[in-house]
Amino acid sequence: MGFQLEKVIPWGRSMEEYVKMFNLTPDELQLNILDCAGGPASFNAEMKQQGYEVISCDPIYQFSAGEIAQRIQDTYQSVIDGVQATREYFVWQDIQSPEHLGQIRMAAMQKFLEDLPLGIQQGRYITAELPTLPFDSDRFDLALCSHLLFTYSDLLSQEFHLASIRELCRVATQVRIFPLLNNFSTEVSPLVGLVMKELTAQGYNLEIQQVSYEFQKGGNQMLQVQRGNIS
Ligand SMILES: C[S@@+](CC[C@H](N)C(=O)[O-])C[C@H]1O[C@@H](n2cnc3c(N)ncnc32)[C@H](O)[C@@H]1O
Repeated sequence: MGFQLEKVIPWGRSMEEYVKMFNLTPDELQLNILDCAGGPASFNAEMKQQGYEVISCDPIYQFSAGEIAQRIQDTYQSVIDGVQATREYFVWQDIQSPEHLGQIRMAAMQKFLEDLPLGIQQGRYITAELPTLPFDSDRFDLALCSHLLFTYSDLLSQEFHLASIRELCRVATQVRIFPLLNNFSTEVSPLVGLVMKELTAQGYNLEIQQVSYEFQKGGNQMLQVQRGNIS
């Protein structure tokens, strides 16, 4: 059976959040960027509006804007209720309350939905699923992956993480993954250490960096990965 929209809870972040989550400098915004597992984030739409180019890939791009909008409507309240029930796991500063969170996420997802039809025509939204991507080796300078790897450590195996990060390193010179915490928790995923050890042994260069974004408590680090000299 193929990828099912009913299994996804669409939840998208803004360009401002991406810049902070990934420590993106003004110079880095000019790079050739892949947003892997971009989902309904507005990063691509906002970057395009500001004259930059990003390619986003995600299995949900096989569905129409109308279908994704319906799924957002169907799941929105349950996500807000989930955040309400776990309020103590979050830093309520820039985002002040679960209601404020809902407004920010809906605004980002609306920008994405408006951009999706044109973005598909322009080849900016590509249907693709880790751990295999339909891009040539070294196609991108930078691959970003927000809120998929490590976030869903309970559902995605260590093997899936290793294969996915190696694939991202195949298509991009540098890979950045955020956050390093499990979903709805303040704990670093146990896969972070295991994956770092294994990939270091395979010749990759890995470094954990502090970032200025923290919404999940303790979720203010990203993992940066690059192919080493040996592979
Ligand atoms: C929580 S959303 C994150 C969206 C966006 N990156 C953000 O941070 O706003 C996770 C996304 O991962 C996508 N996804 C699930 N399995 C995937 C896979 N195997 N490869 C790539 N993306 C996947 C989902 O469709 C969903 O859009």
